[in-house]
Amino acid sequence: MRTFTTAAALVALLPTTIAQANQSYQDYNVAANPDLFPLCLQLLNTSFPDCTNGPLSNTLVCDQTASPHDRASGLVSLFTFEELVNNTGNTGLGVPRLGLPNYQVWGEALHGVGRANFPSSGDFSWATSFPMPINTMSALNRTLIHQIGSIVSTQLRAFSNAGYGGVDVYSPNINTFRHPVWGRGQETPGEDVHLSSVFAYEYITALQGGVDPETLKIIATAKHYAGYDIESWNNHSRLGNDMQITQQELSEYYTPPFLVAVRDAKVRSVMCSYNSVNGVPSCSNSFFLQTLLRDTFEFHEDGYVSGDCGAVYNVWNPHGYAANESAASADSILAGTDIDCGTSYQWHLEDSFEDSHLSRSDIERGVIRLYANLVQAGYFDGEDQPYRDISWQDVIATDEWNIAYEAAVEGTVLLKNDGTLPLSSDIRTVAVIGPWANVTTELQGNYFGPAPYLINLLNAFQESDLRVLHANGTAINSNSQAGFKAALKAARQADAIIFAGGIDNTIEAEAMDREDISWPGNQLELIDQLSQLRKPLIVLQMGGGQVDSSSLESNDNVNALVWGGYPGQSGGQALFDIITGKRAPAGRLVVTQYPAEYALQFPAIDMNLRPSGDNPGQTYMWYTGTPVYEFGHGLFYTTFEEQGDSTETRTFNIQDLLTGPHPGYDYVEQQTLLNFTATITNTGDRESDYTAIVYVNTTAGSAPYPNKWLVGFDRLGALEGGDSQTLTVPVSIGSVARTDEQGNRVLYPGRYELALNNDRSVVISFDLEGEEAVLLKWPEDQSS
Ligand SMILES: *[C@@H]1O[C@H](CO)[C@@H](O)[C@H](O)[C@H]1NC(C)=O
Ligand SMILES: *[C@@H]1O[C@H](CO)[C@@H](O)[C@H](O)[C@H]1NC(C)=O
Ligand SMILES: *[C@@H]1O[C@H](CO)[C@@H](O)[C@H](O)[C@H]1NC(C)=O
Ligand SMILES: *[C@@H]1O[C@H](CO)[C@@H](O)[C@H](O)[C@H]1NC(C)=O
Ligand SMILES: *[C@@H]1O[C@H](CO)[C@@H](O)[C@H](O)[C@H]1NC(C)=O
Ligand SMILES: *[C@@H]1O[C@H](CO)[C@@H](O)[C@H](O)[C@H]1NC(C)=O
Ligand SMILES: *[C@@H]1O[C@H](CO)[C@@H](O)[C@H](O)[C@H]1NC(C)=O
Ligand SMILES: *[C@@H]1O[C@H](CO)[C@@H](O)[C@H](O)[C@H]1NC(C)=O
Ligand SMILES: *[C@@H]1O[C@H](CO)[C@@H](O)[C@H](O)[C@H]1NC(C)=O
Ligand SMILES: *[C@@H]1O[C@H](CO)[C@@H](O)[C@H](O)[C@H]1NC(C)=O
Repeated sequence: MRTFTTAAALVALLPTTIAQANQSYQDYNVAANPDLFPLCLQLLNTSFPDCTNGPLSNTLVCDQTASPHDRASGLVSLFTFEELVNNTGNTGLGVPRLGLPNYQVWGEALHGVGRANFPSSGDFSWATSFPMPINTMSALNRTLIHQIGSIVSTQLRAFSNAGYGGVDVYSPNINTFRHPVWGRGQETPGEDVHLSSVFAYEYITALQGGVDPETLKIIATAKHYAGYDIESWNNHSRLGNDMQITQQELSEYYTPPFLVAVRDAKVRSVMCSYNSVNGVPSCSNSFFLQTLLRDTFEFHEDGYVSGDCGAVYNVWNPHGYAANESAASADSILAGTDIDCGTSYQWHLEDSFEDSHLSRSDIERGVIRLYANLVQAGYFDGEDQPYRDISWQDVIATDEWNIAYEAAVEGTVLLKNDGTLPLSSDIRTVAVIGPWANVTTELQGNYFGPAPYLINLLNAFQESDLRVLHANGTAINSNSQAGFKAALKAARQADAIIFAGGIDNTIEAEAMDREDISWPGNQLELIDQLSQLRKPLIVLQMGGGQVDSSSLESNDNVNALVWGGYPGQSGGQALFDIITGKRAPAGRLVVTQYPAEYALQFPAIDMNLRPSGDNPGQTYMWYTGTPVYEFGHGLFYTTFEEQGDSTETRTFNIQDLLTGPHPGYDYVEQQTLLNFTATITNTGDRESDYTAIVYVNTTAGSAPYPNKWLVGFDRLGALEGGDSQTLTVPVSIGSVARTDEQGNRVLYPGRYELALNNDRSVVISFDLEGEEAVLLKWPEDQSS
């Protein structure tokens, strides 16, 4: 007997392109499955099981001396089959008979508490809204990433304790931002695999409350695993895309942040992605979920995999990898998708079970894993447990630290400046123009909750003692010149002009890639007319993905260009303070700014990073063309002199490196090969932070060779004019390894050069000698 009415009858077969899609929310999964999503999308109030007086009180799950796994197994063994199936979806229905409350697995905390039951006013009606991750990474400050993660987890715990949220989240997004058209690149730490790995490590360990802590603070999810970096380009829907990725680049570029998240940061949850890779949808891919994740990356034994929302359903429709939704559910559970964000499991596992495609224990496995983590987060253990005393007062207190503002300042990137910035104190009247001047939630990018306040650029200027003239001039994507006249009039009356524009989530978004990476609408036309007034003109390029600013770069009457991304609740204040010189910029681009032709040159679904045919190579590692602004570009208000400490070439023997002791490290390749050191002196007269990127390049191993790749970074604080500080960037053994065609990580003998920043102001060489050696053996993909 079927418990549920099947949804399948209601669902029309969908095309693999997005042409008929309803993009209103979560693209066509919502439109396609109208009956299914209300359950999946529901926000629940959290309540904690009662282990003192409730029906579970004398059962194993309430025994604090037992292991989380045993406690969870004990709980799940009490479920009837129907109760078991009712708890396989993100909206876990609980077990009323046992006093087990329902539980919403789907939380979000990308850059602040993003999905919770926010009351419309009063306590818990807001949470701190930090800049988007692409901004935070641009600060090149790992402590900052950790601090933000920590504040977010404190705030979410407060929400959870009060019943407004759960204790796990579907964050962070650690896919690498490969191609500039991607609508969700804004959510990521940028295009570099080392930066994404560091971000993953810091954010996950901060959310979870340490590396493998005794009590989990918040359970983090590393997403989207793997090869997910296209939404809808050229009508190729993310829900049905099959990405062709070589084992070499899967190992070198698409999965290392997941290896670090899983093996080093010990994340407890991983989300499998919508797309297929080499013919197999990620959520039914046993090579991904078993061979790589568990056997190679050493996923925590209680770690669980959740499907992206609707992804199990998509294994059937539109992928067509399974014959129906029930088969998609069985395939996914057997491959290792433990929890379905969706309702395919809840509605169809009983069919699969009756058809003998699955056993009860296949279904139990995932639910036990989920509950083992909830147990370890103290969900069953009452109010005297760690983190249970966090309250609304802690939300207020951590917000008052003003780290959202600090992060916005630190992540701002100065792309161009002829000395106009910071603005001279002679400037008394400014014209603040453009579609980003007076924005509200645009400051927050995507996946945001209500902020306590939103300070845009206009607000910040209006609070100052400058005289401010405002006109929006044009909209983000408009060809109407109706607003030009007012904008030019304001500009004529001003001593300086600030134009704030670029892109926002009407141009780049979840479910929506760009086709074109030019500035949208007629913004460039307005900027050009403003530039003809020959007054100090500062352009703020906003949005997560880059737009081609080459015409601004080459226009001498555009005096300064600043990238501001999505700077969060205090973004306008941060930009104002940089423009007026109260703070100094030191962020660096974590993505390449390509010329507009790049997006037209080759298909964005071509995943090959190495150049071939029309593909000129992707990311700064492989791109053979000339970028408008390079990855790692970023100017200061002062000048720095960088001096290397050594010119001698050091030699290391590979076998000695790998067989020596490695105290303090779990894996020998994590050990420091050498410290890259330099003396940094502020030779100007303005106080400024300094940011450093260390790259390596080599022709060891076989061709083709990448231009270079990033092996370390750092940010030094507040150097006053004349001050010197020592920069020390540890370079690990693993970071100089390359990846062979089979996907193995290999240390090759040969000459290597470490260089500081894009201008290679300090270069240190070293030689590796001995025999090449494999650091990580990549397993064979037998599934496709
Ligand atoms: C898209 O979906 C929304 C929500 O389900 C619905 O209100 C709207 O009518 C749909 N639009 C189209 C064009 O189908
Ligand atoms: C959550 O609790 C609030 C009151 O705090 C109530 O208004 C709301 O209906 C509850 N929501 C659910 C889904 O139970
Ligand atoms: C399972 O969930 C369905 C749908 O909400 C509900 O009608 C049913 O009573 C639940 N079964 C049990 C045993 O809790
Ligand atoms: C995508 O599909 C829509 C609707 O059919 C169509 O208008 C649009 O031109 C297509 N876009 C591309 C890039 O093919
Ligand atoms: C779904 O597909 C499976 C595998 O092909 C098949 O055994 C099963 O009968 C199908 N179920 C339904 C409800 O069509
Ligand atoms: C700025 O936008 C707000 C709405 O968000 C509006 O009330 C206000 O009038 C605008 N300010 C100006 C100067 O246009
Ligand atoms: C610009 O400002 C005017 C007045 O605030 C407003 O009506 C309009 O919607 C804004 N956006 C435009 C013109 O793009
Ligand atoms: C690198 O520097 C750190 C201190 O910053 C020191 O502890 C470590 O031993 C150095 N490692 C090597 C290999 O020189
Ligand atoms: C590293 O790159 C620089 C600049 O392109 C080049 O001059 C140098 O020969 C390269 N070094 C090695 C070891 O390949
Ligand atoms: C990096 O971030 C931490 C935490 O916010 C902060 O204390 C520190 O000052 C920042 N470092 C620099 C160099 O700005």
